[in-house]
Amino acid sequence: MQISRDIVYVGVNDHETVLFEGQYPVPNGMAYNSYLIKDEKTAVMDTVDERFADEWLANIRAALDGGSPDYLVVQHMEPDHSGSILRFVEAYPDAVLAASAKAFSMMSNFYGVSPDARRVTVGEGDALELGRHRLAFVTAPMVHWPEVIMTFEETEKVLFSADAFGKFGALDVDEPWLDEARRYYFGIVGKFGAQVQNLLKKAAGLDISVICPLHGPVLKDGIADHIALYDTWSSYTPESKGVLIAYTSVYGNTKKAVEMLEEKLVRRGCPETAVRDLASCRLSDAVADAFRLGTVVFASTTYNAGVFPPMREFINALTERGFSKRKVAFIENGSWAPTAAKTMKAMLEGCKDLEFAGNVVTLLSAPNEKTPAALDVLADELCR
Ligand code: FEO
Repeated sequence: MQISRDIVYVGVNDHETVLFEGQYPVPNGMAYNSYLIKDEKTAVMDTVDERFADEWLANIRAALDGGSPDYLVVQHMEPDHSGSILRFVEAYPDAVLAASAKAFSMMSNFYGVSPDARRVTVGEGDALELGRHRLAFVTAPMVHWPEVIMTFEETEKVLFSADAFGKFGALDVDEPWLDEARRYYFGIVGKFGAQVQNLLKKAAGLDISVICPLHGPVLKDGIADHIALYDTWSSYTPESKGVLIAYTSVYGNTKKAVEMLEEKLVRRGCPETAVRDLASCRLSDAVADAFRLGTVVFASTTYNAGVFPPMREFINALTERGFSKRKVAFIENGSWAPTAAKTMKAMLEGCKDLEFAGNVVTLLSAPNEKTPAALDVLADELCR
């Protein structure tokens, strides 16, 4: 794939991995992107997961047509991108590795790459001259690891953005960008909103024409829209005023109340409702919805004097990713001592800027004749 006359895609598609990073389902696979910049000096941007090293090296050989790369730029040391460094060094022993000081330290820890290997340490403001192309480096700590650098190619105005602006899904599967990019962002980078905001401040000073991320498609259109979306996500601002109802239900009784509330919200003209059964949905979808929408209703069975385990896992996934700036409500169920609402509220206590609904709906085993009215009051409050 030709990105421009001098920049060639040499990455690979992975249709073997079921759970990316051991936890995110990727039914459409994953792409590990790598790029080659041809000039008087040739640079390869990042490697790929080690399982695909042969295919990646073959792509480089084909793109180089007999030549040899002069540089390997290592922007990020997570093994989905660094796993083939040793294979590269074996294949091209004269090439120079360019990376941050932290990346070189990780390289030694992960792969035992010798400190004597040919290398150049780069950081903020440093640049690598290739000839017609100039690679200017931008540090991006915690997007998504501390060693990350991004690279702005100044002639063609290409931002090599490491994990940022990526998505789940291999490149040979045609699917919309947004949903899988959001699920990827909040799953993997969501905790680091402040660091992404810092990066966006640096990006604002660059005239970017193309974004080449390490996952997902190369972005050539709507660059400003993609950056604006990252600003929304990293500032924890909801995309929509809709409501997510995330629930657990052991015997279907809490679910009945959830369905009643959904219907009442729709009747009141709520702009959007999403309902997720936390025991059966992909956790990462529920997390993405919670950060997409402005209101989250947590509905849970009481369990061991707390909440049902999938709800606990969901709330933990939100709090560790900086859940904030939302309206929150609770529905609890308990046959003898309902404590789920109290437990859920306590779990969310450390979150910033949450507005807790004044009305908590409590079920004593199952909805009864008072439940519709209680849900009406809650729906009114949420739609106000
Ligand atoms: Fe795609 Fe943080 O690695």
